[in-house]
Amino acid sequence: MGIKRFYDAHIMPRMITLACGQKGIEERRREVVPLAEGRVFELGCGGGLNQALYDDEKVTGFAGIDPHAGLLEGARERAKARGWDHDIREGVGEKIPFPDSSFDTAVCTYTLCSVDDPGKVLGELRRILRPRGKLIFLEHGKAPDADVARWQERIEPVWKPLAGGCHLTRPIGSALRGAGFEVEPIGQAYLAKAPKFMGWMEWGVARRAGV
Ligand SMILES: C[S@@+](CC[C@H](N)C(=O)[O-])C[C@H]1O[C@@H](n2cnc3c(N)ncnc32)[C@H](O)[C@@H]1O
Repeated sequence: MGIKRFYDAHIMPRMITLACGQKGIEERRREVVPLAEGRVFELGCGGGLNQALYDDEKVTGFAGIDPHAGLLEGARERAKARGWDHDIREGVGEKIPFPDSSFDTAVCTYTLCSVDDPGKVLGELRRILRPRGKLIFLEHGKAPDADVARWQERIEPVWKPLAGGCHLTRPIGSALRGAGFEVEPIGQAYLAKAPKFMGWMEWGVARRAGV
């Protein structure tokens, strides 16, 4: 196995799970994940960091996908331990393997930055949600301050291969609105104690517009 493949398979997933598990991020997760209800779909569920935060009283079923097959066994074990009716599969958000209007909630945390085609993924999330279903999001992305955004553009080409394809410059709220969602923001801020280029966060709930 070459160094790059070894890094991508073993080191990078651990680094990402560590980074995504830090305290400031956990606090943001606690603001959004318990809002999930009914049949829940989680995009990029691999690391499983959200699972402990779901409200068992509200979740009636759980499905998730992630292209990183090695992470899914852990996610399945945790879902089983919670007693959820669950269906966790290897897959990508650009082609979600579930029917139209089949979920009450979709959860997307720190994943839109890594997918290949965010527009396609948001279209798929819209498709699988029931008409008044909600998309819960917590993402990092393009900072509103021009000087920070300029640094994000400069750093992104070096950052991306080290961080599993994670982009720094993707807009969040405007991407959701552009994909046909009405956005109810809960918060947006730089993550404390993190470099600003990777710290701009937006979180909230989005619903299919016009239904
Ligand atoms: C930074 S991690 C976040 C994991 C988890 N959602 C969280 O909040 O901790 C990004 C995740 O997106 C997954 N991912 C990458 N490309 C994807 C795609 N096209 N569709 C779905 N998930 C993808 C990765 O395998 C990884 O598990």
